[in-house]
Amino acid sequence: MKLLDHEYESLLPGSGEAAGAYEFQYAGPDAAFTRAQEQLRRQGHVRIGDSVPDFTARTNSGSIRFHKFIGDSWCVLFSHPADFTPVCTTELGATARLGDEWARRGVKIIGFSVDSSEDHERWIADINETQSSRVDFPIIADKDRRVSMLFGMLDQTHFRHGPGFGETMTVRSVFVISPLKRVELVLSYPAHVGRNFDEILRVVDALQLSARYRVATPANWRPGDDTVVLPFVSDEEAERTFADKGGVRRVRSYLRYVRDPSLRLL
Ligand code: BEZ
Repeated sequence: MKLLDHEYESLLPGSGEAAGAYEFQYAGPDAAFTRAQEQLRRQGHVRIGDSVPDFTARTNSGSIRFHKFIGDSWCVLFSHPADFTPVCTTELGATARLGDEWARRGVKIIGFSVDSSEDHERWIADINETQSSRVDFPIIADKDRRVSMLFGMLDQTHFRHGPGFGETMTVRSVFVISPLKRVELVLSYPAHVGRNFDEILRVVDALQLSARYRVATPANWRPGDDTVVLPFVSDEEAERTFADKGGVRRVRSYLRYVRDPSLRLL
């Protein structure tokens, strides 16, 4: 198959299988594991600074074209291993409960797994019931692993049990994408560790601050804390740029603090 100028061979079930019949065509563990290993071997990857790949995909709320979905917003694309699993249920609930925070930062959220859109739909009802949440963002249904392979989201260690025994699953990947469709952050968590979505909000704050002002954010930075001048900005330029932000505090030639430039000076 041709996808964004790359040639990908489909290693996936045929159309009859993809429709749900593969349980009856299951060719034994060897065949399933060979296919899984092939999927893992052929994965691409998406790096910080890449232009995020465009693709079409099914979601629980219809088909999307990814770049069109992002539009002029920031975007957090995050994958989970499997619907109807405990950690994933809490993660999707936590993300949904932060709806106002994402909106305040102009961030569109989109989930992702290799389950079907019908499963997503049924699972969302469960998430909302058990997590006091209202999941109102789409979840991509990448049953054929087309997009998972393109982004390199498939896990080396966790193969699905049950009817899909031996099938690959996505890890807990996070991609933060800017309105320019540039990949700004890539995270990968294993299946058994739930992510901290307050941290992802913090990263979005830091990315948006750096995109707006010529600063970087030090360890454990929180909005309002001091920031640092970027290493390639000269002292003269830093003094000039931050003169009306409280100036520069120079500890070393390479370590120069400035107040959070988004704060208004009193
Ligand atoms: C979970 O969401 O709890 C989970 C999913 C896949 C593997 C392990 C844990």
